[in-house]
Amino acid sequence: MLLFSGNSNKPLAKKIAEILGLNLGDLEITTFPDNENRVRVVENVVGEDAVVVQSTGITPNLYYIELFLIIDSLKRSGAKSITLVIPYLGYQRQDHIFRDGEAVSLEVIISILEKLGVTKVISFDLHSVRIPELFHVPVIHLSAIPLFAEEIKKMDLDDAVLVSPDMGGIARIKKISELCGNLPYVSIVKDRDLVTGNIESTTINGEVKKTAIIVDDVISTGDTIVEAVKLLENNGVKDVYVLATHGILAGNASAKLQNSNIKKVIITDTIKVPDNKLFEKLEIISVSNSIAEELRNS
Ligand code: R5P
Repeated sequence: MLLFSGNSNKPLAKKIAEILGLNLGDLEITTFPDNENRVRVVENVVGEDAVVVQSTGITPNLYYIELFLIIDSLKRSGAKSITLVIPYLGYQRQDHIFRDGEAVSLEVIISILEKLGVTKVISFDLHSVRIPELFHVPVIHLSAIPLFAEEIKKMDLDDAVLVSPDMGGIARIKKISELCGNLPYVSIVKDRDLVTGNIESTTINGEVKKTAIIVDDVISTGDTIVEAVKLLENNGVKDVYVLATHGILAGNASAKLQNSNIKKVIITDTIKVPDNKLFEKLEIISVSNSIAEELRNS
């Protein structure tokens, strides 16, 4: 197996390589003055099983183009198979038509990846469990839920409740509850304006406790979490902890989270968080072991 990495999340790719006892394969990725990319695979990949690690995040367009060129260079250079490790699959939230006339962005991404020759995909906590069905190649859908359950079990759970910040997260919160000895859970009902993306209202379905542990798949603007924290506090919650798989941390999300009454925010390294977006309450745990284990067994 030959492991390659794009520029989106080299630290994660290096960790995976280290666990597997591999070096990252040699790729030349250069940028022309007009910002177009040029990619060249330097290794001999003829007949090899190639693995590419590339995530998206705050600059999906840049990293997708880079990824497409990496896959094309591997395919043209004779790789036998190409497994894509895409810990955060950008454009996944537009997985169907919400309003007449919209593009189905995820289907566009899938068509390109498959046309280019990706033979298998490994990703984390996809927004919908139906997403793997949209692919025509095998998709290994990994989850940070077991890691989060371990983190939650270290907390004081005497008077605690798990919280899903929207109804879409119910299956996730039920699973974590089971892994944490059937810890009680509630869900927030969130209404969002489909055009502006603004959160219009939130209400709680169920009874809260002194400590609330919010678990979500993605933190993008941070608004879902900040609104959830306000609602929980207004309902008597004292301590709020947040766990989310993917820290996109768009715009000033980091400041919003740091300044809100949250005790701690735990995310994973599916997306590389740039230094200027790190904040005091943030803790990052790694998904590298899960990915390495999957690659080792496949
Ligand atoms: C929504 O369905 C997702 O599970 C997340 O709650 C949402 O994408 C987070 O976005 P933001 O941080 O922009 O509120």
